[in-house]
Amino acid sequence: MASLDNAAARAVETFQPGPGMHTLTAGRGLLFGGDYNPEQWPEHVWAEDVELMRAAGVNLVTVGVFSWARIEPEQGKRDFAWLDRVLDLMSEAGIAVDLATPTASPPPWLGHRRPQTLPVDESGHRLWYGSRNQFCPSSPVYRERALALVADLATRYAGHPALALWHVGNEYGQICHCDESAKAFRTWLKDRYGDLDTLNDAWGTTFWSQRYSDWAEIITPRRAPSMINPSQQLDWRRFCSDALLAHFRAERDVLRARTPDTPITTNFMGLFKPVDYWSWADEEDIVSNDHYPDPSDPLAPARAALTHDLMRGLAKGRPWLLMEQSTSAVNWRPHNPPKPPGRLRLESLQAVARGADGLCYFQWRASRFGAERFHSAMLPHAGPDTRLHAEVRAHGRELRELASVAGQPVPARVAMVFDWPNWWALEERGRPSDRLNATDQLFCYYLPFWERGVSVDLVPPSADLRGYSLVVVPNLFLISDEDAAALSGYVRGGGVLVVGPFSGIVDQRAHVRTGRFPAPLRDVLGASGEEHRPADGPVRCRWTTGTEFAAHTWTELVAAEGAETMAEFAEGGPAVLRHRSGQGVAWYVATMPEPDALGELATRALADAGVHGVLPDLPRGVEAVRRGDVLFLLNHGTDTVRVPLPHAATDLLTGSAADGELTLSPQEVAALVNPSPTGNRVRS
Ligand code: GLA
Repeated sequence: MASLDNAAARAVETFQPGPGMHTLTAGRGLLFGGDYNPEQWPEHVWAEDVELMRAAGVNLVTVGVFSWARIEPEQGKRDFAWLDRVLDLMSEAGIAVDLATPTASPPPWLGHRRPQTLPVDESGHRLWYGSRNQFCPSSPVYRERALALVADLATRYAGHPALALWHVGNEYGQICHCDESAKAFRTWLKDRYGDLDTLNDAWGTTFWSQRYSDWAEIITPRRAPSMINPSQQLDWRRFCSDALLAHFRAERDVLRARTPDTPITTNFMGLFKPVDYWSWADEEDIVSNDHYPDPSDPLAPARAALTHDLMRGLAKGRPWLLMEQSTSAVNWRPHNPPKPPGRLRLESLQAVARGADGLCYFQWRASRFGAERFHSAMLPHAGPDTRLHAEVRAHGRELRELASVAGQPVPARVAMVFDWPNWWALEERGRPSDRLNATDQLFCYYLPFWERGVSVDLVPPSADLRGYSLVVVPNLFLISDEDAAALSGYVRGGGVLVVGPFSGIVDQRAHVRTGRFPAPLRDVLGASGEEHRPADGPVRCRWTTGTEFAAHTWTELVAAEGAETMAEFAEGGPAVLRHRSGQGVAWYVATMPEPDALGELATRALADAGVHGVLPDLPRGVEAVRRGDVLFLLNHGTDTVRVPLPHAATDLLTGSAADGELTLSPQEVAALVNPSPTGNRVRS
């Protein structure tokens, strides 16, 4: 097996698992379970649930996410008796509980009595109860009722042996345009800008006669006749993320005061636009995520890998928890094919390979009623004697073989920069092309590294880049002076940088940086441009080696200023440039190359950085990632493949030995460790 290079080996040695996740996995190994909603079932079913959970190796369940109306059936009343029995049952069965604060879905009585707690959309229409998530993040009444409930919940279950983790709310993402939100937005703006003149400057309100003469005039960006001020929109998005974070913090602080030793999490949603997860992740003890790959999407495995790497980045390299996935079909896409047999295991083990210490599902038992009655579950409507439940049980059992993986890091020498405010700013209306998007760019640049078995850490623009040999910036349309200086310094110090198109264009107020672009990166890139030229149809390009490739959507009129032109547009002018700056190298890509050409670019940048994949000659469709001393190989393709192995290895999942080569059938996974001469496992 390829030995770890020095940087990766150092990462393994110096890595300390976070205390939060460690408290859960100690003595349990990897966590396995799901959302458990016993309030939907008569109590006699609970005993069967527990029996089946134990048979499936379930060791963690999330309880109570949507139980506000059950716990507080009328304002001020409490009914915890049923929840006492659920937690007692779980503790008797040795199953840990991730107890939710049930504040994502307030009961109808709250909206009925206090409609001002309900959210208002950008047209000024109130959204009603009868679904879920119907609250205004800035509503003092909602906050007060939620915190009172959370306080009682925490007081009641502090010290309960089943309580292992707090799950605050659910999938935060509410946006509200009510008057209370506008008031909170104004307070947030006063904090940020201090006075109206500074705000007027920041928002460029001399444009279209938007100057504010009184704070009271400032509203949330409601629907308007034409395009909204982009600087106002950007601040609004910042505010919305912060307003939700303020609510999360308030609940968290109530919990922490009563149960200081119980870790706290809230479930993220991967690349979810409304919430800046970089600003949230440090506020919780454990990063957790909900991820639902689309079984009809051939690129779903790479998208999942990217999302998992983002979670590891948010967790600062520590283990994270896959809080929700589905065993088979979801019910919220328009057409919902099931997952083929074996997919559940493949997807779950992919998350393990990429740093997850827990694999949980929505949900344990399929609901009979409600909006999600056709969503798959660990225990389907047809019962335990089913193909799906058999897979669930087998998967739960085999996860025990991977117990030693818990807490292990995923070393990476490549970082990819992703930023929420940039995402928001880039995708405002009124740009040269709405076909250049932040997450599409991220994915295009991520894909060739995934295909090459090169691990990538997702990082924010402010990250300390010194530990990385290669840093990729798919897009930073919005960039601060400090972050631009840090990228330049990184290259001068010996790093290799790749920058995608339309980067370095605006500052944090979304004001264009004048002069040739990308103004703050011009020196380090040794190149600059003067025109953005979105393209219709394919764009022909040629590497200077003579090979042609196609690009699409976007071109720029740029000139080399010290950089070497590596590829040109057929119509003339540099398309890809490479510049030696200080001890390092910076690449600039002035278009959107097709996937093979981005692969070629990745190969060249990796060579500059001296980074290689965990295995040479990786067959197409096979994902390879090293976690600690385990090399995971996952066959996402439709063909049986042979993977050459440089050393003999043992598969932790099957116990079988592989020497020189491993055969992987479709959807098969191997978790390989080096065998010692005695046949025992050794650490690389
Ligand atoms: C989300 C929610 C769950 C459930 C699932 C269905 O992740 O958190 O409550 O609605 O989606 O896929």
